[in-house]
Amino acid sequence: MRLTMTRLQNVRARLRDEALGRGKNPRDVDLLLSDLVGKPVTYVIAHGELELDAAPLEAMLARRWAGEPLQYIRGHTEFYSREFLVDERVLIPRPDTEVLVETALDRAPRGARVVDIGTGSGCIAITLERERPDLRVLAIDRSIDALAVAAANRARLGSHIALAASDLLASTRGVFDLIVSNPPYIPRDEYDGLATEVRDHEPRIALTPGPRGTEIISRILGEALQRLARNGRVMLEIGYGQEDAVRALADEQGFDVETIVNDLAAIPRAVVLSAHGR
Ligand SMILES: C[S@@+](CC[C@H](N)C(=O)[O-])C[C@H]1O[C@@H](n2cnc3c(N)ncnc32)[C@H](O)[C@@H]1O
Repeated sequence: MRLTMTRLQNVRARLRDEALGRGKNPRDVDLLLSDLVGKPVTYVIAHGELELDAAPLEAMLARRWAGEPLQYIRGHTEFYSREFLVDERVLIPRPDTEVLVETALDRAPRGARVVDIGTGSGCIAITLERERPDLRVLAIDRSIDALAVAAANRARLGSHIALAASDLLASTRGVFDLIVSNPPYIPRDEYDGLATEVRDHEPRIALTPGPRGTEIISRILGEALQRLARNGRVMLEIGYGQEDAVRALADEQGFDVETIVNDLAAIPRAVVLSAHGR
């Protein structure tokens, strides 16, 4: 096959214009170019004289124009300053979830036994263990596909977390000092109205647990009562507007809400719970 070489600055200008015309972010072009060239975006911007074959970039952009999330096309995304591999088998880690990670890092006692329920890409579990090597972290997911991605991230980030397939805590043993989870929490009606970029590409099992949105949160609390060590804590990410429902569930299921930490948009995001009387 013959390559057609073009100046980077010409390809870049043409495709950035096309992005704008399609209502997409022209920075997507720069990020994909930087992946192709294997250099930072600043290098791409400064080296318009380079010659390249535009065909691979155009193929990736065709996927982007068709609505596929940029992170899946690139095959990676940043979370808590580390690069995580991502594809359609896992939820794309969101910046909001860094609030849950910070909350856990601040509060986990030294040497704590931690379980991350619904680990997806492994972003929470691996970050906790890399930031706090004293923690003993088990990451579980019901999705075998997701666990394969978490295992790849564990290997590339030099992590030592344990991974297991489990429906919540059913296939695990022992007690935990910290049960952490970013569970699926979008009510089914809202799921149907999500942007197609999310609904048609990210795994449904990662997004919605049922009509109320709180089904998995309620099940986690039900199991946690038996599986928390003395002074143990449950830390959960919750969705927009879920604070009151989660407070009511916690009370019904024998938990005190100790703190709720807001995200950068001042939305209640990470809930810290302890079992009544412990
Ligand atoms: C919102 S995603 C969170 C992924 C990742 N922890 C993150 O924060 O980006 C929820 C995850 O929970 C998993 N999951 C859903 N139901 C589950 C269940 N009953 N038991 C274990 N994992 C479950 C999904 O497969 C998905 O990976």
